[in-house]
Amino acid sequence: MRVLVVNGPNLNLLGRRKPEIYGSATLADLEERCRAWGAGLGIDVAVFQSNHEGAIVDRLHAAMDDCDGVVINPGALTHTSRVLYDAIEAIEIPTVEVHLSDIAAREPWRAVSLIAPVCAASISGRGPDGYLAALEFLAGLSR
Ligand code: DQA
Repeated sequence: MRVLVVNGPNLNLLGRRKPEIYGSATLADLEERCRAWGAGLGIDVAVFQSNHEGAIVDRLHAAMDDCDGVVINPGALTHTSRVLYDAIEAIEIPTVEVHLSDIAAREPWRAVSLIAPVCAASISGRGPDGYLAALEFLAGLSR
């Protein structure tokens, strides 16, 4: 099984951006943990980060040819992007939404995820472990 882990805008700043909310791990740390955890589950993990909505859409489209699952933390695009809703719906690949912080417990506008209805599961507030739980969820679907 091959899973694409996508991180959206501002997540390249992990480790430096509001560590009291997002933690001290860098994006590279997070991606390495995903790769290692995935390997233990028999998942080949591919990673992608972009600050650009269209680049994320392009990578999701490409996943139709090379991935069986997607884990996505779209950053603030979660709350704004019907474009990502359409892309996730269009690719028809099981997709799990992940947020490091608990989006339900912050500003009211963060509590609304526009992509949740097209995701197989949503995991929020578990820090980097949420990505690992998402990989486990996807591994469970393929069993
Ligand atoms: C986030 C939560 C979003 O509201 C925020 O815009 C982010 C990160 C999270 O991982 O907790 O950039 O998706």
